[in-house]
Order: sequence, then structure tokens, then C-alpha cells
Amino acid sequence: MFKRTVKILLAATAIGAAGCGQAGDEVASSEGAVLGDALPGTNAATFAAARDNFAASEGAPDGLGPIFNEHSCGACHANGAVGGAGQNVERRYGRLSGGVFDPMASTGGSLRQLFGLGGFNVGGLNCNSGTDANPAPGATIFAGRLTTPLFGLGLVDSLPDSRFDTLASREPAAIRGIVNRVSTALPNPLDPSQTTGGTRVGRFGWKSGVPNLGQFSADAYLNEMGITTSSCIRGARNNAFATENRANRAGTNAIINGCPDDQVPGIDDDFAAEENECAGGVNELQDDVANFTFFMAHLAAPPALPIAAGSAADRGRTLFNSASLQCSGCHRSDADIFVSTTAGGVQGGIVFAPYSDFLVHDMGTLGDGIGNAGDSVAVTRRMRTAPLWGLRSRNLLLHDGRTTDRGAAIAAHNGGASGQGTPAANAYNALTTAQKSDLLAFLATL
Ligand code: HEC
Ligand code: HEC
Repeated sequence: MFKRTVKILLAATAIGAAGCGQAGDEVASSEGAVLGDALPGTNAATFAAARDNFAASEGAPDGLGPIFNEHSCGACHANGAVGGAGQNVERRYGRLSGGVFDPMASTGGSLRQLFGLGGFNVGGLNCNSGTDANPAPGATIFAGRLTTPLFGLGLVDSLPDSRFDTLASREPAAIRGIVNRVSTALPNPLDPSQTTGGTRVGRFGWKSGVPNLGQFSADAYLNEMGITTSSCIRGARNNAFATENRANRAGTNAIINGCPDDQVPGIDDDFAAEENECAGGVNELQDDVANFTFFMAHLAAPPALPIAAGSAADRGRTLFNSASLQCSGCHRSDADIFVSTTAGGVQGGIVFAPYSDFLVHDMGTLGDGIGNAGDSVAVTRRMRTAPLWGLRSRNLLLHDGRTTDRGAAIAAHNGGASGQGTPAANAYNALTTAQKSDLLAFLATL
């Protein structure tokens, strides 16, 4: 349902509060940081309020539903600190039709919403919502998607597209990733290089399908929680996430017994229209979306542990970077690439080591087989190099959370002949027990 507008504390700061930290109210920084800390220089009160908003549980009166997966962002992103990975493994499905991927949108795919409001009352009408068909008739491809951690992603969001092109050019041809350029549905209004419908390098999600954190916020609000929003981008209303999801993609509200969930059926009527906020070239994300974005954008990178010279972790790091294992060919930490810029509203000049290229790779049979409508089978096998920063705070691993065992996750890189991770898995399997243990000791510092 649509999100009623409540003008709360942060609306005016949108995601542009970088630099608003005042002496005296800054969050303590930085090298000794713990998981969930803010970037140095972030206004502590603004960050705390945005975090509370991210963790706030929503109900039907707030706009939740009619179909949804959870009641708050924080309910899924919870491990270690608010914004962490989570135990929630979402369900995706689809099928091949004419040799290409079909997300079965008419049945609510590819993302399944597991819950509906059930019976609810709007304006005196008793309504009832369903959930997406389970299993959808005819679906043949099923995949789980583990909740990923959000620490440090504002730094990644701030990088210009050219950095990813440079990374790809540095990778050995046999394992080179693909830069996944996508259309921007909801630009970051602070970054002049982003426009509605313009292209940006996708870098977020297991498939690098999403170009920025604001768009991911509006997308998750709609698709995980059923809360629609609209925003103002340089004076133009942006309705990309304003259309309600209905169980099994029913075309009208009839599926919920003719009950209105919006005043204009199918289109959100929140603040952009109600308050004519878009007049005069206004740039503003819907207030909750702005808060989620601010919170995530200002989460510091997960702190790595120090490595003593000559230790097992030190030897393991050498193996990780070796030409035979090639882990660092995909799981990258190039210090000249991973330096934040101020483009998206975070602090510039922060060097970080995500151990990912944010590019997608053909992982062969490890790929989850899910794609967008019309994708070839080869495209559906592509997965983003999972960032390894913060690995020691994680439990479930790989896109479907199939294991908690780091060695098993590495061995699973063997995706058969087409898999770009297969040589690394084979090289890992050929290590001695002592070498494996050194490599795992290095991973345990991340
Ligand atoms: C039902 C659980 C659930 C809820 C609720 C949820 N998420 Fe997520 N989140 C996930 C999963 C699963 C993924 C991985 C999705 C994928 O790539 O398929 C994810 C990924 C993300 C990412 C991408 C991170 C990366 O690694 O690139 C962002 C950003 C994000 N979520 C933000 C949010 C925000 C903001 C909210 C609230 C509006 C939210 N999420 C609500 C489960 C959830
Ligand atoms: C061709 C690129 C590539 C190479 C080389 C590679 N990886 Fe990966 N790695 C990936 C991708 C892609 C994923 C996510 C796979 C999935 O879950 O579908 C991943 C996932 C992981 C994970 C699980 C992380 C998580 O969040 O679930 C670990 C651990 C890991 N890799 C370690 C390694 C190690 C150690 C090496 C070297 C032996 C290595 N990788 C080599 C691309 C690569």
C-alpha cells in the first residue's frame, strides 16, 4: 500500500547530509571501528535517526502490503549490527521459454512475496489479499537469495562507472568479469551524472542488477514490504516504485475484493502529488527512502583484523593473491580504485578494501539460473563476486545460503566447464591441508 507521508526529522536532509557533521556531534571514528559504525564525519544524531527508521517495523496502517516478505528492512538485515547480512533467504523462480528466461511476471515472479495482509479493512470495506502462487504452475527454476550485508556500500555507490571498467581491464581474460550497465529507474539526485532512464554500472545485489542505494531502497520498500513511494528528481515526479504489487500480479485491485489501496488505482498518491513537492525543480527522495539511503550510505566498511608478519593469515594472504589460486583476480582490493568520491553524498577520499570487483562472472552451475525477461541461459549464470569484507561476521554463505563452511564455499566455485570460478576451486582443492588452513586463517581476518 502507499506510504502515508509523515514529514519527519530527516526529510530535509535527504541523502545530502554529507558534511553536515558538526564538531562535537560526530560519530567516533575509525580504524578501531566496530560493525555498524558510521563513516567518520557523519552526524551522529542524523545517522541514529536514519538507522531507527531502517529498523522500524511497519504495519498495514503504515502502508505494508498487500503482499510482502517482512515488516522492516532491519528484520532481514540484522546480523552483527543493524544493516548486516541476515538469515532470510528469499525465493525466486521462473522458467525457460523459447530458450530464454521467463520471470513469469503474470504469476508474481521472479520474486515471490511470501505473506499477505489477509483480511483487512479499508474505508469500511472488508478486504482480503492473497500471496504469490507457491509453487507457480509451470515454474522449473527455483533459487534462494540470501540477505547480504550493507556495511561500506555507500563507498561503493560513490564510485564512478569508469572504475569498474578499469577493474575489468585488469582481470585475466579467462576470469574477466562483465560490467553490468543497467538503466537507472531512480537516480541519486545529488549525483549529476545520474539521470532517470540513464545508464549506470549496476553494483548492488547478487547480480549487480541495481545501480545505486536509493533505487535499491525504493525497490526493497515496494517488493519486500509492499510500500510504494514516489520521489522528485530535479522537479520531475518519479513513479518508478509507485505501483502496487498485487498477489500473482493481478491487473486490478479486484484480487483484494475491490478494495482501494491507492486513491488512483495502481499509482501511489504520496507526497510528490499530495504536496506538490516537485514544483520548482525540487530534488528529494521520499522521506523513508531518503533515510534508508542515508543510513546505508554512511555505514562504515567492516573493520578487518590486523595481520602479523609471518602468521598463518599472512601466508594465507599470499596464497589468496597468488596467480595459481586467483582469488584476488575477482575478489579485489585495488587501493587506487576503491577510494570514495563525494558524488553521492558521502565523504570523499576514504580508501577501502571490499574484496570484490562488483562485476558479474559466469559461474557455471553455481549460477542461480535467474535473470530478467529474455536473458539467455549464459546470462542467468552470472553472479556478482561476493564482497568478502566482513566475512568473519557472517554465517550463511553463497547466494542461497547453502553453507556456513568457508572451505565448502570455495570448493563450490567449481561450476563445471563454463564456470569462471572452476580453476580457483580446482587450485584450492589441490592445496595441502596446511595451505588450506592458512588461506582460511586469512579469510578469518576479513
Ligand atoms: C525479506 C528480507 C529483506 C527485507 C525486508 C529487506 N531486504 Fe534488503 N536484501 C535482502 C536480500 C535477500 C538481498 C539480496 C537480494 C538479491 O540480490 O537478490 C538484499 C539486498 C539488499 C541490498 C543490496 C546489498 C548488496 O550486497 O549489494 C540493499 C542496498 C538492501 N537490501 C537494502 C534494503 C532496504 C533499504 C530495505 C528496506 C526498505 C531492505 N533491504 C529490506 C533481504 C531483505
Ligand atoms: C571468477 C571470479 C572468482 C574467483 C576467481 C574466486 N571467486 Fe569467490 N566468489 C565469486 C562469486 C561470483 C561468488 C558468489 C557466488 C554465488 O554465491 O553464487 C563468490 C563467493 C565467494 C565466497 C562466499 C562469500 C559469500 O558472501 O557468500 C567466498 C568465501 C569466496 N568466494 C572465496 C574465494 C576464494 C578463497 C577464492 C580463491 C580460491 C575465490 N573466491 C575465487 C567469484 C570468484
